[in-house]
Amino acid sequence: PRTTPLRVLICDEMNPGDLHHEGFEIDYAGNLPREETLRRLSGYDALITRSRTKVDRELLEAAGDRLRVIGRGGVGVDNIDLEACSRRGILVLNAPESNNVSAAELAIMHLLAAARGLTRSDRKTRAGEWDRKFLGVELKDKTLGIVGLGRIGSIVADRAQGLRLKVVAFDPYVPENKFERLGVERATSLDELLGRVDFLTVHTPLTEETQGMIGARELARLKPGAIVVNAARGGIVEEAALVEALSAGHLFGAGVDVFVEEPPTPDHIFLNAPNLGITAHLGANTYEAQERVGAEIVGRVLAALHGDVSKGA
Ligand code: MLT
Repeated sequence: PRTTPLRVLICDEMNPGDLHHEGFEIDYAGNLPREETLRRLSGYDALITRSRTKVDRELLEAAGDRLRVIGRGGVGVDNIDLEACSRRGILVLNAPESNNVSAAELAIMHLLAAARGLTRSDRKTRAGEWDRKFLGVELKDKTLGIVGLGRIGSIVADRAQGLRLKVVAFDPYVPENKFERLGVERATSLDELLGRVDFLTVHTPLTEETQGMIGARELARLKPGAIVVNAARGGIVEEAALVEALSAGHLFGAGVDVFVEEPPTPDHIFLNAPNLGITAHLGANTYEAQERVGAEIVGRVLAALHGDVSKGA
């Protein structure tokens, strides 16, 4: 039996739950500065991150040979160089389900906020201007388009139906029976979806295929007065194209939780765009989600270090 504990470093903010597990030493250091992570990493068997930490070659070099498992406390693994990890024999695990409801609820919030001009009215009221001229739009009987009918997109569809929206989705990777089960209409192409909907929300991972998927051409295909929500990953909806479509008055509003570069610079083009609601990548940030994410990812990583990956899944 091992006498030295297996060591796990958690370098991003999360709720890791009970850190006492026999045979393991788990160090929680939420929001550890990158230089510190690089400096300390060689003494660990596993690293647990969220989206803040870029797991790139530099970080893996700093880790040396001991690191065997990387746990991503969340869904997206776009912050991790998977190829470099696999070359080094490092197993990458995520927590694919724990924060799905929170992410979906945030997307619905952005849709409602844009439809009713929340950001605009909040800003004006605080500035002493009592502006009751603004007219919003109702969601009921409108059509919501969802790109990506995976775990999060499916929950968005369900909640949207509760608000009496008709839901159409585009996802070439999802079988027909899932659309039927969810009562969601299938669009056979992105172009078809864009031409049909009043509101659009994206729920895909960030990949070569999805980066810039909604650009100027795609936004122009949306009906005038449409609302666009991106609570998935920065850059799936092109940032400059979104601002242009809002400024030109083609879009009624938009909501974004994610940026190409996070945190954004203080002069980011989103900051002065009309009727654009912004949150700071908070999709997964609820007490409930973070409790589940922490338990799920710590459980999976410890099981993997024990050599049994399936146990933690
Ligand atoms: C995710 O991919 O699940 C989120 O980005 C999680 C996070 O906030 O780190």
